[in-house]
Amino acid sequence: MNLYESIIDQAVKYIEEPFRNNSGGHDTEHSLRVYRNAMLIADNEPDSNCEIVALAALLHDVDDHKLFHTENNENARVFLKNRLPEERIDAICSCINAVSFSRNKGKAPDSIEGKIVQDADRLDAIGAIGIARTFAFGGEHGRPLRDSIQHFHNKLLLLKDLMNTETGKLLAAERHAFLEEFLRELNDELN
Ligand code: ADP
Ligand code: NI
Repeated sequence: MNLYESIIDQAVKYIEEPFRNNSGGHDTEHSLRVYRNAMLIADNEPDSNCEIVALAALLHDVDDHKLFHTENNENARVFLKNRLPEERIDAICSCINAVSFSRNKGKAPDSIEGKIVQDADRLDAIGAIGIARTFAFGGEHGRPLRDSIQHFHNKLLLLKDLMNTETGKLLAAERHAFLEEFLRELNDELN
């Protein structure tokens, strides 16, 4: 195993602990899917640094303010410290911080690595997996089904037009079509 593989491997193990009490929305599996989506997109973005993409994807939610009360990407930095040079750690943290839509008031990330990880995170919010996560989130928060259905209109159906990369747009179009098909069928069944 080379040095590059081993840090990714270690990051995969590291994220299990912070997410251990979470299910559905934010958990280790979500981070692993975002990582896989991000690597797929990065394959078509030759100017991106794949170590930054991989680690930012795996660590993108470990300091999410909805779950953790950390400052300055503390959970990500605890892992990265002593494993990488300071400037590489800062690049990974700025990539993570550029991903959140609300934190950046809708502004797209400047770096290609940020654009890739943001697309990868958004892909996991749509398609079949996005539907599953939405109802899991609603259940976790004790919300009625109609609230989760409303979330499709408030957020999920808007994501395909917010994608940054060409690969992200292609993948999002397929998943978006599936959301629409699901809503059509749901509408038929409910009426
Ligand atoms: P991330 O931080 O990974 O981008 P979010 O925190 O926005 O994701 O949401 C996690 C999951 O929960 C997503 O699949 C999202 O669609 C779902 N979700 C978030 N808010 C709501 C809501 N109000 N109703 C239903 N599902 C929601
Ligand atoms: Ni996420």
